[in-house]
Amino acid sequence: MPVKVVVGAQWGDEGKGKITDLFSESADVVVRYQGGSNAGHTVCVGSEEFKLHLIPSGILHEHVLSLMGDGTVIDVQCLMDEISGLQARGVSCANLKVSGCAHVIMPYHRLLDGLQEDARGAGSIGTTRRGIGPAYTDKTARMPRPVRMWDLLDEARLKERIEGQLAQKNPILRHVYDHEPLDAGEVFAQVWPAAQRAQQYVCDTRALLMEQVAADKRVVMEGAQGTFLDLDCGTFPFVTSSHPISGGACLGTGIGPTVIDEVFMVAKAYTTRVGAGAFPTENKGAEGDLIRERGREYGTTTGRPRRCGWLDLVVLKTSARINSTTGIALTMLDVLDTFQKLQVCVGYEVGGRTLDMVPSDVDLMEQVKPVYIELPGWQEDIGSCTDFDALPANAKAYVGKIEEVTGVPAKLVSVGKDRDQTIMR
Ligand code: IMP
Repeated sequence: MPVKVVVGAQWGDEGKGKITDLFSESADVVVRYQGGSNAGHTVCVGSEEFKLHLIPSGILHEHVLSLMGDGTVIDVQCLMDEISGLQARGVSCANLKVSGCAHVIMPYHRLLDGLQEDARGAGSIGTTRRGIGPAYTDKTARMPRPVRMWDLLDEARLKERIEGQLAQKNPILRHVYDHEPLDAGEVFAQVWPAAQRAQQYVCDTRALLMEQVAADKRVVMEGAQGTFLDLDCGTFPFVTSSHPISGGACLGTGIGPTVIDEVFMVAKAYTTRVGAGAFPTENKGAEGDLIRERGREYGTTTGRPRRCGWLDLVVLKTSARINSTTGIALTMLDVLDTFQKLQVCVGYEVGGRTLDMVPSDVDLMEQVKPVYIELPGWQEDIGSCTDFDALPANAKAYVGKIEEVTGVPAKLVSVGKDRDQTIMR
């Protein structure tokens, strides 16, 4: 059963777009299973760069069926803008299907995301303000009935849903946030043009995916964000509102765990994080700045500078277990080319103990002190290496350390942003 999951090992931005794109070449189906336009997946094809927020990276391969699963949340305007942008560059979206069960990010979700973040002040989560949290909140609340993609197929039903939602949201807007109430007719008018254009993409992706799996088609399940941004397994409350972990692939598509036979954990050769929350190996000095500049570590979605730091093997080891990882795709190794010495975190010290796994108690995670080992750098440009044996000995040793601590083979090593800058092992 050739079903592969691609999952982020850290706090997102690991380079999953490039890896999914590589796997897509030999896939029949690519399905995104959670998140929404908070993601930013960059894929380079020749001299062309594509930035995708919502649509699965598989879209760049015409033969691939690209699905957005039940667990995703869809900003319809953003979806249609992305489709138009791709079509304008000659990319066909004829093979794109969006789950009718996916919840729709409405204008009031984006508004509330911003108002909530502003109200949190210094205690803000640092969300992407794309309405993700409020849309998933409505999904879990269930009533009043939120808008799902199915509802976009029926004008009267969509109006009814919006009215029901605003009956609940307007008092909150007025009394909690001192904001003008929203008019249901205006909200409808804002979303209806894009909703009508999106109708052709709506279908039962769960049934479609089951058929594909039964026919032994090659399926790639694409996660967004990363393991430690998972609502349950991440550094709560500084997490996203969905399940980026490999288990989320089942939740967000409707297929069971035993059909999955490979889990690729995409891990950056160092660590980054956007937004607030624990980050034991964060480096606020010159080395962190150098990583940021060399790695172009600025958010694809928000443009925010990412927090940067050394590789944290405690994070990777924990991620390897959470995701039942069968292979690591190590990315951005070339970003480290310039360093004479590299720090790698192999444990956390806290309360007189040394931990080798991320504690699930996030308050403890906030207090840990990283235990580093120092590895020699290679100070050589590795961007043109296409064979693992051609890498400098110190680079191979760095990869070897990751494999030793996590117990998982690095089956793929990326040494640059282009498709051909990839070592397959
Ligand atoms: P939200 O997903 O917009 O609610 O943001 C919640 C947290 O997840 C914030 O810390 C965001 O910076 C982070 N986040 C959301 N999407 C991404 C992503 O694609 N990459 C990295 N961080 C993300």
